[in-house]
Amino acid sequence: MIKPIEGFSKLTKTEKIDWIATHYTKNPETSKETLKRYWSSDDALQKLHDEFIENTISNYYLPFGIAPNFLVNDELYAIPMAIEESSVVAAASKAAKFWLERGGFKTTVLGTEKIGQVHFMYYGEAQKLKDFFVEVHRKLLSSTSSLTKNMQKRGGGISNIELRDQTNKLENYYQLHCTFETSDAMGANFINSCLEQFAKTFKEEAQHFNAFTDKEKDFEIVMSILSNYVPNCLVRAEVSCPIAELNVGNSISAEKFAEKMVRAVNIAMVEPHRAVTHNKGIMNGIDAVVLATGNDFRAVEAGVHAYAARNGSYSSLTHASVENGQFRFWMEIPLALGTVGGLTSLHPLVKLALEILGNPSAEELMQIVAVAGLAQNFAAVRSLVTTGIQEGHMKMHLLNILNQLGANDDEKKKLIEHFKKNAATHNAVVEAFEQLRNR
Ligand code: MEV
Repeated sequence: MIKPIEGFSKLTKTEKIDWIATHYTKNPETSKETLKRYWSSDDALQKLHDEFIENTISNYYLPFGIAPNFLVNDELYAIPMAIEESSVVAAASKAAKFWLERGGFKTTVLGTEKIGQVHFMYYGEAQKLKDFFVEVHRKLLSSTSSLTKNMQKRGGGISNIELRDQTNKLENYYQLHCTFETSDAMGANFINSCLEQFAKTFKEEAQHFNAFTDKEKDFEIVMSILSNYVPNCLVRAEVSCPIAELNVGNSISAEKFAEKMVRAVNIAMVEPHRAVTHNKGIMNGIDAVVLATGNDFRAVEAGVHAYAARNGSYSSLTHASVENGQFRFWMEIPLALGTVGGLTSLHPLVKLALEILGNPSAEELMQIVAVAGLAQNFAAVRSLVTTGIQEGHMKMHLLNILNQLGANDDEKKKLIEHFKKNAATHNAVVEAFEQLRNR
């Protein structure tokens, strides 16, 4: 049995690797070799990565790809994407090209409000708490002035602080529900620092509020934290064209295709099982750009899915309509993103990704990311209602299978050619490979 280890974080990197490889892997020497193969030969770069997190023993690479030809509000973008799934960049590029020839994507930022909350338990008369809040409100703002000074210079700051009585949900539960503008920063550190200061000031000031009894002064701050649910930090992305221009190939008419697209989206509107997969396709595009630009994809994921369920049932994030001969496909999605702070000025590839995008503001990045999501969804649903998803997916996955089988460059070339004309199921690829080898 492996014994727990004390002070793992204090070991050197080599000691950590020795320990993990020896105790948890079958072939320690090979495991060490694998971990070291992913180290950067550039010591400064490796040190940077080592210091991003605790206990770094190697780097985890993801492909960094480019989806070109995205026309967004009449500007042409090449969008960097960090993702492992074979078909995602290809699908995004295909959708970008399709809409490039049909007027491109149009986007609008509908809001940039961020949210944070101080959660606390108060055991007393609700009215007295309300009176105290009115009295302390100004003090809450002034106590954070050193934190908000720089943010205010950049056009951000605290927008509002509200006392919310939540006792109908949980006995004695109240909160300070606070809203913020964070300019080009995602704002997590700024918001959390302000909230922790609010909590401190709130508690301190309560001690001098004469109307409170000792019990009422003794309320309990439970926690102070931003919310990743940001329904008012919202961006809309859309495409539209006359139905007659919606020609996607000979096998289906433009009218039929438009009709099928709308039907597929409507199914995802009403059926949660389909909606989750439908939205997963959107997140294929969103996460890849969020990751490439050094943003927090977990925060985005959590917020987006909560938004998809905001009406009480999980539903499609995209919408499609056919009206007056016009096909329209659109999405509104909450995205709290930053283009300053965090990894944005630290990680060389993130910096480059942002440069490729023209060093966008946070609002511009919201629009680009939303477009990547919409394009991805269009590409996926287009395949689903026409050829089926496997045709395109397996074409892109073919190389992965061939690499798994150990195919050499010549074999790969021949088999890629072969599968241009034949359906590439896993078995078919294995069979064709074996036939070629044994020829
Ligand atoms: C696969 O990563 C994503 C899809 O399943 C999305 C969808 O079904 O719409 C193709």
